[in-house]
Amino acid sequence: MASDNKVITVSGVRPTGRQHLGNYFGAVKNFVGMQDSYTGYFFVADYHSLTTHPNAADLREKSKNIALIYLACGLDPDKCALYLQSDVQQIPELYLIFNMHAYLGELEREATFKEKVRSQPNNVNAGLLTYPVLMTVDIIIHKAHKVPVGKDQQQHVEMSRDFVRRFNNFYGVNYFPEPVPFSFSDTLMNIPSLDGEGKMSKSKPEYTCIYLEDTPDQIRKKIMRMPSDSGPTEPNSAKPPFIQNIFDLMALVSSTETIQHFNDQYNQCNIRYGDLKKQLAEDMVAYLSPIRQKIEELSANESKVYEILGDGASKARASAAQTLRDVREIIGFKNF
Ligand code: ADP
Ligand code: TRP
Repeated sequence: MASDNKVITVSGVRPTGRQHLGNYFGAVKNFVGMQDSYTGYFFVADYHSLTTHPNAADLREKSKNIALIYLACGLDPDKCALYLQSDVQQIPELYLIFNMHAYLGELEREATFKEKVRSQPNNVNAGLLTYPVLMTVDIIIHKAHKVPVGKDQQQHVEMSRDFVRRFNNFYGVNYFPEPVPFSFSDTLMNIPSLDGEGKMSKSKPEYTCIYLEDTPDQIRKKIMRMPSDSGPTEPNSAKPPFIQNIFDLMALVSSTETIQHFNDQYNQCNIRYGDLKKQLAEDMVAYLSPIRQKIEELSANESKVYEILGDGASKARASAAQTLRDVREIIGFKNF
């Protein structure tokens, strides 16, 4: 697949819950935008989800659902490889090798790990600790340069650069490129939670997240309950963070004229937040409707989704096998 000299890109999403606006704008929308001009490998990070011990039926259902959503958002299996991580057996082999050069101190210092130690003290497993190693391997198994992710994954991608540099230095080779995070926007995306507290995330309550599968009425209800206040009293004053969030969401789905209109009203102190939220809700519904319809269509044709995943796995395995052969050679194993 990488024979056409295009830059290689890799990214994945864990099948741990329903996909929301943050996943879409931080990750999947960029995958879709990249598929024409990059050699893209986009996968469902199902090995990663084992850290939370899902049962088999749940894992299968959620993994299929992520693939389906990738397709509904516009990924074209003729242009990229779309696969399940667990179908690429070279990944665990390279993971084992990279674990030998990953140190306890640096893994324990990683922010997501520290947060998990706090939030789930009864399940601090070794997979959680070495999560950044597996994520590095996901990326470098295809020798990727660019990794489309949201802001929250920046530290993980930084760590993958450290691991790559260490491997290249240790073996005195210039084999793996150092991957960089990527977004089409100027900065990595950070879509806010609807309650104004931190980022939108599937680990937060339902009403704080807009899911790609939400019905128009669910979207309207969630947006209408976003916090607001009685409005500015001084012209041109700074927006409080929870109001800025409403405008930030508008910037994703509304026209420039609409945004300008409400900004002017805000600056002139005659804004009505009910109207602002209604407009945002309608623009959000219009934006997400085609995706939701596509999700429904594809849900009725699961065998098609599995067929696509099978083809994607073949493409991903071919690229991964080449990398593994090279790495085994570099570290002194024999390839029979
Ligand atoms: P969650 O935080 O809901 O568990 P994941 O960790 O599965 O989501 O994230 C999958 C992808 O979506 C990653 O690339 C991540 O950076 C991106 N992402 C998740 N939440 C957001 C958000 N609120 N804003 C921007 N990108 C996000
Ligand atoms: N860690 C990412 C997340 O939680 C998912 C992921 C796993 C990933 N491997 C990756 C993202 C490789 C980009 C590249 O969202």
